[in-house]
Parts: sequence; C-alpha cells; structure tokens
Amino acid sequence: MGTDTPDINSSYGLYIDGEWVSSTGSEYFQTVNPATEQQITDITAGTAADVDRAVDAARSAFPAWRDTDPDERGRIVSRIGDLVREHSDELARLESLDQGKPLSQAKSDMEGAARYFEYYAGAADKLEGTSVPVGSDQIDFTLREPYGVSAQITPWNFPGNLFARGVGPALVAGNTTVVKPAEQTPLSTLRLVELCEQAGVPDGVVNVVTGFGEPAGSALSSHPDVDTITFTGSVPTGQVIMKQAADNVTPVTLELGGKNPAVVFPDANLDEAAHWIDKAIFTNAGQICSAADRVIVHESVHDELVDRLVSRAEDYDLGPGLDDADMGPVASAEQFEKVTGYIDVGQSEGATLAAGGGTPERDGYFVEPTIFTDVSNDMRLAQEEIFGPVLSVIPFEDEAAAFEIANDVEYGLVGGIFTADVRRALRFSRDLEAGNVYVNKWFGDTNQTPFGGYKKSGIGREKGLEALDSYLQTKNVAINLSEGDTGSLPGA
Ligand code: NAI
Ligand code: MG
Repeated sequence: MGTDTPDINSSYGLYIDGEWVSSTGSEYFQTVNPATEQQITDITAGTAADVDRAVDAARSAFPAWRDTDPDERGRIVSRIGDLVREHSDELARLESLDQGKPLSQAKSDMEGAARYFEYYAGAADKLEGTSVPVGSDQIDFTLREPYGVSAQITPWNFPGNLFARGVGPALVAGNTTVVKPAEQTPLSTLRLVELCEQAGVPDGVVNVVTGFGEPAGSALSSHPDVDTITFTGSVPTGQVIMKQAADNVTPVTLELGGKNPAVVFPDANLDEAAHWIDKAIFTNAGQICSAADRVIVHESVHDELVDRLVSRAEDYDLGPGLDDADMGPVASAEQFEKVTGYIDVGQSEGATLAAGGGTPERDGYFVEPTIFTDVSNDMRLAQEEIFGPVLSVIPFEDEAAAFEIANDVEYGLVGGIFTADVRRALRFSRDLEAGNVYVNKWFGDTNQTPFGGYKKSGIGREKGLEALDSYLQTKNVAINLSEGDTGSLPGA
C-alpha cells in the first residue's frame, strides 16, 4: 500500500449540526481493511440518543433549507459535485482501503457520486407542480413539497456512491438528512460530509451518525420525527425497517437484493455475452445488488459460453484494492463466511465447480472468481442472494423455459438478454418481472435512469428524476373564484 495510503484520523466522531461531536456513549469500534484484516481506525458507535440529537438538528435546519431559493440550493449541491470530483482520487483511495474494491472501480464510483450531485443540482429549480382543470369557478394547482427529515441508511458495497445517490436528490428537494453509513465502511461518508460543509451546506442539513444497525440504524428508522426513509441493503433488514416505519406511517424507499438472470440465446455474440457477464458478476467481487448471478444459457451454446467465462475467471489477479488488482477481497469477515458457505452449499447440492471455489492462502477476505455449472433453478445456489463472486450456470431448451426460469425467484431487480433477435429481446423486456432490463449489455444504468426492484427487490425508485418522488410530497390547492358561491359538496 505504502505511498497510496490515504490520510486517516486516529478516531472519528459524529457529524451533527455542522460540528464533529462525541457520542453520548463512549463506545468506539474499528473499521477493518478487508485486504489485510488489519484495523484502520476508531469509529464512534452512535447511540439512540445521538440519533435523537441528529434528527433534532435536521428538524431545526429544515425550515430555512426548505425556504432557501431553489437556485441557491442547486448551486450548493453543484459545488458538492465539484468538490467530490476534485477529491475523487482521495475518496477512491479511502473507499478501496475500507471496502476492498479495486481503485479503478472506486474511482468510477466517485465519478458517479459527483455526477449525482451535478445531475440533481440542475433539477433544484425545476420541481414544478401542475395546474388541474376543474371548471371555470375554481383554480386548482399542485405544489411539490419536501417531506422534512430524510433518513439515509446505506450499505457497504458502494458507500460513497450511495451517499450521493440519496443525499443529492434529498437536498435539492429541500429536505434535511441524517445518514447512517454501514459499520463496515464509514470512511468515505465521513469525508463526504466534510465536503458538503465546504460546499456551503448549512449546519444541520446533512448529519452523519456512524454505528451499528442496532442501536443506531434502528433508532433512526423508528424515529417519530423522521419523515421519509431511504434504505439499501438486505431483504430482512428492509422488512424490519418497513415495520418500524409503519408505526409512524413513514414512507420508505427500499432497494434490496437481487438474483438476476442473464439469458443467453444461440444467436448471441458469445464473446460479447461472456465479456458482459464476466463484468456483471465479478466487478466489486460480486457485491452488487444488480450483479448477474444466474446465467441461463441455451444448451446448444452452453459449453462454448462456459469455456469463455471460465477462461476469463481464471485470468483474475486477486489483490488489495489499493494496488488496483483485478479483484479485491470481499468487504468483511461476515461476507467472507457467507460467500464461502454458499460455495459449500453449491457443492453439497450437486452443482459442478467449473472455476475457482477456493480462497487464496493469504491474509484478507479473498475469494476466487467462482463458476458453478449443472445448477438447477430450485437449488439454494440459484435462489438466494450470495453477494460474492459466485456465478451459477443453468441450461435451458426453449424460450418459454428460459423466461420461466428467469422469473422463478423472489427477487426482481434486474435481468438481461443476449440475442440478435429483436422480437425476442422485446418479448423478454415485456415479460421479465424486474425493474431494469439490459439487452446485449449489463449495467445499463446511468445516474439519469430510474433504478429499483419488482417483487422482494424493493419499493420505489432511485436515480433519475423519478427518485425525486421519494423526497417530495404533493399538495393540492383548490381555490374558489366566485364570491358568495357556497357550492355543492363532493359527490352530492
Ligand atoms: P443489512 O441490510 O443488515 O445492512 C445495511 C445497512 O442497514 C447498514 O447500514 C446496517 O447497519 C443497517 N441496519 C442493519 N440492521 C438495521 C436495523 N434493524 N434498523 C436499521 N438499520 C439497520 O445488510 P448486511 O448484514 O450488511 O449484509 C447482508 C446481506 O445483505 C449481504 O450479504 C447482501 O446479500 C445484502 N446486501 C444487499 C445490498 C444491496 O445493494 N441491495 C447491500 C448490502 C447488503
Ligand atoms: Mg472496512
């Protein structure tokens, strides 16, 4: 790592109301470098009382931020984008160190983070309502108003990028925020909030409480003074958050897991399909909700595709993210246990290991790029989100079977098809039960395209202008124009 090690403080407090403060408790925890298993630094374990303070700060800051001219809000958010871009090398190094991902991938995450702020900044003064024709004696129009305090509970796979994905639209819409980053990877968030301050974000508008799901996350998602919750993570935690939110009737935007199908037909360009699928399962060591977990391939090209995928998998050099190896470690000891546990499950279920499956003899949570063949869709290997570099290959006989297998999971985040047949690609786009469809590519998502899940993969949409719907509520205003008109009651 040497000269590439970013500057790290010896400990980090909480960022509340524009200041670094100590917790009401005295607990710290260590964030770990997953490439070495060495502890990096002390992070404050926020308490429920800390969350109260942060929500109070966000609440107090809300009226002034809501009433700030939208063009000014846009300029401030745009400056955050500039600062993220200016500091993208430093942010990327922090992310690689803390999360494990290769530096070039971390840089691309930070480029994406800068883009979120830029993209949403431009929308700040375009959040228009509509006027509704209701007759000559009335004027009726809608206002789009911020909810108030937006809670952001983020995961460890794209911590810096997802901070931007949530905080960007929340701020331009006029909300204030409390962010609870994942305990495994808090460093980029702690730096990003400093850049928000530098950009001119007023005190209390963005607050960060580090800590664990219990108590910090849960105190935030059950807080009666939080007005909307954005969460990315696992289905079980999403369900817990939704239940807590129900007690306060707080809306939730949930981006949960996936078990995403990549369907390959014999008329596909197999080199291109192998290229995309390889990137789609092994980028970020497979820790992507929209990874291609299941390849569903026509039996006539099964072996040709598998040969290509195996030779790519065997080419990966594993190493620390800061060295920009082809693949880094998985992000934590727990994730290492989970992923290697699934490799055992696959073998005991009778799938064939076609590549990888091992863990190199070295420190760090490294798992080889792994490919299983002879997978049937009812195996746990094909049904459950692994969130690691493990690909399952499932053969099919005809289009109907392929589409059925593609949809036969609880999840519905993304899916892709590789084919030269336009009609077939469009049938798949119509029939796939998922929020995002890729045709002859993968990761088609950009900052400006809506992203989210069908079925258990979530509720609501992130990214694009549609994400603003999570941060704005509609108020309808009905005005009587004729004096002395007592009118008629609705429905009368
Ligand atoms: P998780 O869903 O428990 O954690 C995500 C975030 O939620 C973290 O900030 C965590 O501190 C917080 N959290 C945990 N419990 C909470 C609670 N009761 N109330 C409020 N916040 C809470 O996920 P975890 O345990 O880190 O990973 C487990 C699996 O989840 C992964 O193996 C993967 O399958 C999936 N996952 C999916 C992600 C996605 O992008 N959709 C991201 C991260 C994990
Ligand atoms: Mg870490």
